Amino acid sequence: MNFKHILTVSVAVVFSCATSLAQSLSPSTKTHWDKGTLVVESPARPAGQQNVLGLTAPKISTVRVAFVGLGMRGPGAVERFTHIPGVQIVALCDYVEARAEGCQKYLRSAGLPPADIYSGEKGYEEVCKRADIDLVYVATDWDHHFPVAKCALENGKHTAIEVPSAMNLEQCWELIDLSEKTRLHCMILENCCYDWYELNTLNMAQQGVFGEVLRGEGAYIHNLDDFWDYYWKNPDGSDPDKLGWRMKYNMENRGDVYATHGLGPVALAMNIHRGDRFTTLVAMDTKSAHGKEYVEKKTGKPCTNYRNGDQTTTLMRTQDGKVVEIQHNVMNPQPYNRLYKLTGTKGYATKYPEQHYALDKSQLTASGVAPKVDDLSSHGFLPAAEQQALVAKYTHPIIKKYGEMAQKVGGHGGMDFFMDARLIYCLQNGLPLDMDVYDLAEWCCLAELGSLSMDNNCCAVAFPDFTRGYWNVQNGYQFAWANPAEEAIAEAAAIASTEAQKADCAKRKLWEKYDKAKEKAAKKAKK
Ligand SMILES: NC(=O)c1ccc[n+]([C@@H]2O[C@H](COP(=O)([O-])OP(=O)(O)OC[C@H]3O[C@@H](n4cnc5c(N)ncnc54)[C@H](O)[C@@H]3O)[C@@H](O)[C@H]2O)c1
Repeated sequence: MNFKHILTVSVAVVFSCATSLAQSLSPSTKTHWDKGTLVVESPARPAGQQNVLGLTAPKISTVRVAFVGLGMRGPGAVERFTHIPGVQIVALCDYVEARAEGCQKYLRSAGLPPADIYSGEKGYEEVCKRADIDLVYVATDWDHHFPVAKCALENGKHTAIEVPSAMNLEQCWELIDLSEKTRLHCMILENCCYDWYELNTLNMAQQGVFGEVLRGEGAYIHNLDDFWDYYWKNPDGSDPDKLGWRMKYNMENRGDVYATHGLGPVALAMNIHRGDRFTTLVAMDTKSAHGKEYVEKKTGKPCTNYRNGDQTTTLMRTQDGKVVEIQHNVMNPQPYNRLYKLTGTKGYATKYPEQHYALDKSQLTASGVAPKVDDLSSHGFLPAAEQQALVAKYTHPIIKKYGEMAQKVGGHGGMDFFMDARLIYCLQNGLPLDMDVYDLAEWCCLAELGSLSMDNNCCAVAFPDFTRGYWNVQNGYQFAWANPAEEAIAEAAAIASTEAQKADCAKRKLWEKYDKAKEKAAKKAKK
């Protein structure tokens, strides 16, 4: 059976329990075989377009934000942004008006002015057309990430997209082209890159604590049984069985459809497209048991081809001979686990189930921490006192700057706040964002590449080069910082902007007016 045939067969069977095409596979992906490897081709860069490595945009002293998608995830972002100085929340948009309206409470309790509300399938188009918005923050279901982001970029807005930010290669390439063409940021909102352990460990890796990092592991292992029924159910007819978008997506699509929590932090530690690049992957999944059973129970009908396996494992190799293993399992009863393990030539880091480091005495000493015990070997983990000393020495600058605030504001223990605060910091200071559109593509492409591998008997699949020739130009991953004088100016302007918004809101009694307008509208609706 050739590849084309396999593809046709898989799409045909998907129809037996689904109504739309599988979205992990893009119609435009071009491949050819080379000595048993399926090579995924990179489309040529359109003439006149340049890469966006290290992209900067003019400083924005007050970042005017619109949020699109306010279900379970989005409202937390709105609340976090009310704690970041120099932000103006201009618009709240969700398919369901009440969900957008419900987020006004965060603005009210912060003393900030009410935002404009948009709703319906195309409400985001009106949002994106507004001239007074700088950033569109997307937290919709997966089917809407791309259309909203595309619309935002086409209308001149920086764009930040929840994970996974692109569902297939075609969307990856379109977002790359849009960012390159418009010179606007297009960032993947990969919050797990900002978790405390990951940030400190990245700092250690960059300073050689583990020697050369050769292997990394990451995962999204999270049994979603408590959530399946709460995901939004599109009333447009595409989800007649009311499975909710996430179950439906897993039913229709093979491959690691949620790879970025596991892959993002590992890719940063491995300097991917900053001196190294992923070259080949192989993926393998178990059969589908739990999801299939869920769908059958829910619909009362047989589901003959549930595409996503309960557990998917993807193995990747880099140009420089490193290996990354990523796992996805949202089906089976297991403790939550993102693995996050780094194996280096001189040390080892592991986050789950418990956070540890393994270094021998000489490497710990070389890393600037004097061991308190004599028999320190890397056969065991560092004792608590040594681990604390190591973490204290390598506390990441982002944690030093925002740690206290992150603890107060929260969001997955604070990592969500680190991510949002850094996004705004970089925009206010005109700096490159922490993650560019190539990170987005490299981390999100696992779904399609893994699907191609598994649909071809777990063959090797060669990665496209999303930078189109520039993966080796930057020398290592780094976070951008403004010089202290400029940072202080931007921070003072940000604080003044938020204070002015609050003062104006109080002076013009905007919430009293808002309540009166609501009352009037409710009375009119009753008549
Ligand atoms: N980074 C993280 O830790 C994390 C955690 C949870 C969810 N997520 C991501 O956040 C996103 C949202 O997940 P969720 O759990 O909130 O799902 P959800 O189903 O609760 O919310 C999705 C929302 O999108 C809205 N929507 C659908 N179509 C729309 C349109 N055309 N315009 C505007 N809004 C529209 C729906 O009305 C719904 O409110 C997903 O991409 C998910 O993967 C990320």
